[in-house]
Amino acid sequence: MSKPVIVSGIQPTGNLHIGNYLGAVKNWLELQKSGKYQLYIFIADLHSLTGKLTAEQLREQVRITAAELLAADIDPDKTTFFVQSQVIGHADLAWIFNCVTPMGELERMTQYKDKSEQLNKTTAGLFDYPVLQAADILIYKGEQVPVGQDQVQHVELTRDIARWFNNRYGEFFPEAKHLLTHVPKVMSLLEPEKKMSKSLGAGHVIELRENPEEIENKLKKAVTATTGGVQAPGVINLLGLLKEFGDKKIHDAFVSAEKEGSIRYGDLKKALGEAVAQHFAEFRIKREKLLKDPKKLDKILAKGAAKAQKVATKNMAEVRKLVGVK
Ligand code: ADP
Ligand code: TRP
Repeated sequence: MSKPVIVSGIQPTGNLHIGNYLGAVKNWLELQKSGKYQLYIFIADLHSLTGKLTAEQLREQVRITAAELLAADIDPDKTTFFVQSQVIGHADLAWIFNCVTPMGELERMTQYKDKSEQLNKTTAGLFDYPVLQAADILIYKGEQVPVGQDQVQHVELTRDIARWFNNRYGEFFPEAKHLLTHVPKVMSLLEPEKKMSKSLGAGHVIELRENPEEIENKLKKAVTATTGGVQAPGVINLLGLLKEFGDKKIHDAFVSAEKEGSIRYGDLKKALGEAVAQHFAEFRIKREKLLKDPKKLDKILAKGAAKAQKVATKNMAEVRKLVGVK
């Protein structure tokens, strides 16, 4: 029996932050380590064309994202690791999926609604974004998709698209399921009611590459204010992060202090800052080293793309036959 196929991607729109890490990347590393799956992880540069980056910025961000994922321990010998646009077929399959996907279903997508509001404009690309995502997954016949909470709706749509395709052309694609971590939604430092996201601005996130002083300064500004004795979302978020990155005893002591009302938020922030900085100390060193060797990065990505291309080409040949195009 062949191993189940797992597919996930990330946009190269900025440096990795602890939300990306706890919501998605950490899961990828665990799945990779288990050795039980065929894992495809890619950098979704075609998706990022729906944003505002210049060509130069996009190239630079792809390079940084590649270095960061490798520094975080994505192992190209165990995982098929590549850049989406380097494999021919994703956009072709998206077109075919466009022809079985009702517009009304895309209009319901919350990320589309939020982003078109944020960008103050709507393009066909932004509208079609989840269809390309479905193609990314299904071109490898992905069965499981490890992502953060915000991407669950897109994975559900992927399942629907597989069904619409299969109904029209015969059983071919599997029905992909999302896989969440136990921390599927890390909240912003400055607006803890919102998801931590690059698009909110630098002060809202802790990037994996940040040094201890930078992390300390960001945490100093993190919102912890309590209203009316109810546990504040900012505090819940910081305690949750300490649980992930810190020592269990220290975490438990802060939780007890919080219950008793004797907690000092300054101390909590200091403990968390130290734990996060320590957790990514090796990452920072590896990242710098990889960024100094763009040739090595290119080689790794080209090898990954060639591996992915074999599978994509094979599956696309069958799809073409099923739908009747050359
Ligand atoms: P961002 O919102 O910062 O632009 P992306 O959309 O590139 O992040 O997300 C990449 C991956 O990280 C996705 O799987 C997404 O679900 C996950 N992710 C992003 N932000 C968070 C968060 N705050 N908490 C948990 N997972 C997240
Ligand atoms: N839309 C995802 C995000 O913003 C990135 C992505 C693109 C993706 N294609 C994918 C995730 C396929 C999982 C599977 O995070």
